[in-house]
Amino acid sequence: MKNIGLFYGSTTGNTEEIAGMIADAIGKDKVDVIDVSTASMDKLMEYERIILGTSTWGSGDLQDDWEDFVDQLKEADLKGKKIALFGVGDSVSYGDTFVGGMGELYRLIENNGAEFFGKVSTEGYDYEESPAEIDGKFVGLALDQDNEDDKTGERIQAWVESLKGEGFLS
Ligand SMILES: Cc1cc2nc3c(=O)[nH]c(=O)nc-3n(C[C@H](O)[C@H](O)[C@H](O)COP(=O)(O)O)c2cc1C
Repeated sequence: MKNIGLFYGSTTGNTEEIAGMIADAIGKDKVDVIDVSTASMDKLMEYERIILGTSTWGSGDLQDDWEDFVDQLKEADLKGKKIALFGVGDSVSYGDTFVGGMGELYRLIENNGAEFFGKVSTEGYDYEESPAEIDGKFVGLALDQDNEDDKTGERIQAWVESLKGEGFLS
């Protein structure tokens, strides 16, 4: 088992690809990348440092594979856990619910005792509304593979640097 557990849910492969890019940027030797459709809550709880990633479907909803986890996540005691989130969405076609899945994930666990890392300024993004935005920041890293995939690499690099600065990564 590696230091960090990265759990992602992906329908058409975009979030899966991003999960791999994030693991590369952090260092593959440090991150277990796990498709949430094959994971259990017990597995997730084995890690102290956890990265959770989801795309957004419906109207600002979590990616489907997370649905089995919703009840357990709501109840989970996450005291002592360090958590960073990332969300993938489409800021043009779904500009009023941009990366809503990440917002839903955050709200499920925000009061469960975990410490959150890697919030990202909304500056430089173009969308109308986002359920993942609080006080000018996304609750994690927001990415848009449909319209801005050219920005994804640099956004991931900057995020990994800020995770280092915040002490999530050594
Ligand atoms: C039917 C449908 C609904 C979507 N709803 C949203 C949405 O509400 N907000 C958003 O930001 N993106 C939305 N998206 C965009 C997806 O989240 C985006 O294409 C993402 O890259 C898919 O990632 P995945 O392949 O990992 O599931 C939607 C896409 C589709 C096809």
